[in-house]
Amino acid sequence: MALSVPITEDVHWVGVNDHQTHLFEGVWPLPRGVSYNSYVIADEKVAVVDGVKDANAADHLDRIREVIGDRPIAYLIVNHMEPDHSGTVRTLREAFPQMQVVGNRKTAGFLEQFYGLDAGVKTVADGEELDLGRHKLRFFLTPMVHWPETMVTFDETDGILFSADAFGGFAALDDGIFDDQVDLAHYEDEILRYFSNIVGKYTKPVLNAIDKLKSLEIKTIAPTHGPVWRSNPGQIIQKYARWSRQETEPGVVLAFGSMYGNTAKMAEAVGRALADAGVSTIRAYDVSRTHPSFIIRDAWRYGGLIIGAPTYNSGLFPPMDTLLRDLEILRMEGRHLGIFGSYGWSGGGVKRMREFADTGGKWELVEPVIEANCAPGDHDLEQCAELGRRMAETVNA
Ligand SMILES: Cc1cc2nc3c(=O)[nH]c(=O)nc-3n(C[C@H](O)[C@H](O)[C@H](O)COP(=O)(O)O)c2cc1C
Ligand SMILES: [Fe+2]
Ligand SMILES: [Fe+2]
Repeated sequence: MALSVPITEDVHWVGVNDHQTHLFEGVWPLPRGVSYNSYVIADEKVAVVDGVKDANAADHLDRIREVIGDRPIAYLIVNHMEPDHSGTVRTLREAFPQMQVVGNRKTAGFLEQFYGLDAGVKTVADGEELDLGRHKLRFFLTPMVHWPETMVTFDETDGILFSADAFGGFAALDDGIFDDQVDLAHYEDEILRYFSNIVGKYTKPVLNAIDKLKSLEIKTIAPTHGPVWRSNPGQIIQKYARWSRQETEPGVVLAFGSMYGNTAKMAEAVGRALADAGVSTIRAYDVSRTHPSFIIRDAWRYGGLIIGAPTYNSGLFPPMDTLLRDLEILRMEGRHLGIFGSYGWSGGGVKRMREFADTGGKWELVEPVIEANCAPGDHDLEQCAELGRRMAETVNA
């Protein structure tokens, strides 16, 4: 049975699902795997748009062969050089020695640096066209989404935008590959986790790219990860745009760490007050047990974030410190922040969290900030409840 999937008469998905990689980029857990989407345009000249990770090269080649048989590939279009897509450049070149690798000027530099490839590279400029016969492809540079050389390829004949990592998400495509086949509510969590952690630092380039492409008549969006959007491509553009503009939903993320339960009691007091004040969505996470990428996903989605952790070796409890460093890189805007913590002698945990509030993006601090000495007393817990009530007022407003 063929595992390639037709999208239009000439265009086929020849991607692969990766259930072997435990951590994407060595950092991000993949509980539901990830797809590397690659596409064949089987025209008079055959073009492949983006490849897959090198470990999946054999499956990739099999799927390409299903579509084109013994015909050669004329062009491999490299929209984005990250090795989860460019990893098969060398394998494909060996199988198709005449194949030209198509990219922009920056792509050419990376092809040489990563793969020692300097011959058989066709460099295209912003807005340039490539004619395959029936299909006319046009290239648009969309730098820094999320690598400097990123571009997208628009098939003007079929209205397909090959968008590289833009509009992509985690989670393998084990059932359908199209937006109208999969349970989108189920996918959205993994799309937003991909967006917030991988692309979230580059919201302005994403908005620039969306603006640049707005006049195209896009019928289908074919990203390099996650579902292919053929029924409602506007839906994923709108989501990426909303997330990039840092628009939030009402709700509060309560991220806490605790060694011996003292700070956890404070978290409970905050959480109880949030619930009593009618916050409908509260996402409580123990930072020791939850990978930061899941917490960051929800921090991106909701308007409130409350962080709480003890002091450890004169500084902040390490798992919370890791989360804050990840958040600092993203420099989030327009959200409300609450802080609580504890210490035994020198202090340092709350100090670090206050520094984060001042420099790690544009956070509105919700008072009071609570710092308990050892076990929280009644007054500390009452103050935690007050923080919960004030945060509730803010996010419900
Ligand atoms: C390994 C370890 C290191 C600590 N380092 C410090 C420190 O450097 N300064 C300080 O004020 N308290 C320090 N503390 C004390 C804790 O911050 C304090 O006991 C707090 O109440 C722990 O909260 P928890 O029960 O939520 O883990 C340390 C505690 C532990 C167990
Ligand atoms: Fe990438
Ligand atoms: Fe990617």
